[in-house]
Amino acid sequence: MKFFIDTANLAQIKEAQDLGVLDGVTTNPSLMAKEGITGQANVLAHYRAICDIVDGDVSAEVISTDFEGMVREGEILAALDEKIVVKIPMIKDGVKALKYFSNKGVKTNCTLIFSAGQALMAAKAGASYVSPFIGRLDDISTDGLGLIESIRLIFDNYAFDTEILAASVRHPMHIIECAQIGADVITGPLSAMEALMKHPLTDIGLAKFLADHAKANG
Ligand code: E4P
Repeated sequence: MKFFIDTANLAQIKEAQDLGVLDGVTTNPSLMAKEGITGQANVLAHYRAICDIVDGDVSAEVISTDFEGMVREGEILAALDEKIVVKIPMIKDGVKALKYFSNKGVKTNCTLIFSAGQALMAAKAGASYVSPFIGRLDDISTDGLGLIESIRLIFDNYAFDTEILAASVRHPMHIIECAQIGADVITGPLSAMEALMKHPLTDIGLAKFLADHAKANG
């Protein structure tokens, strides 16, 4: 299972990379705006900076919503670095753009997936990744993890190469349940990954070991 971090914050990306378990980064226009990255030149420079830090795929999202615009933007993004994965929204022109890039051997991530039908269309168009947003589905009392299960079944039935990138992950149980279901990748905040390492009995046990060692050694 691959771990991607879902942020455009360079310090957090570096921290996750230094942990040694990071496989990639996902960004989106909201995350770029949150970091105050505006204007095409700055956006492209920021993606380059991310690629310099991380060992793995870096999803960079197009802003256009028409086929020609998505192709134009995606080609500029893909030329930045071989780590760049062009992130394309699940809309009709987006499906055409996925097919275009798939034919050219450019990696893609189809974003804003909220149904199994959308995931199937993206896989048919040759997407490298599909991103079902499980947290946002949970937010509206819908079963986000159930969607991952359903997509897993469909992709396995037909041996699609498209990887399931569980997105909008909010907490450690999302990661564990995605791992149980067989999502290929999760993307989420650093806090969710860090929470996987924590257990109160580990802290209590370590404190006792150190205290016993100190008592015995003076
Ligand atoms: C995925 O690629 C998106 O960037 C992201 O996971 C959305 O997460 P959110 O619902 O927490 O904004």
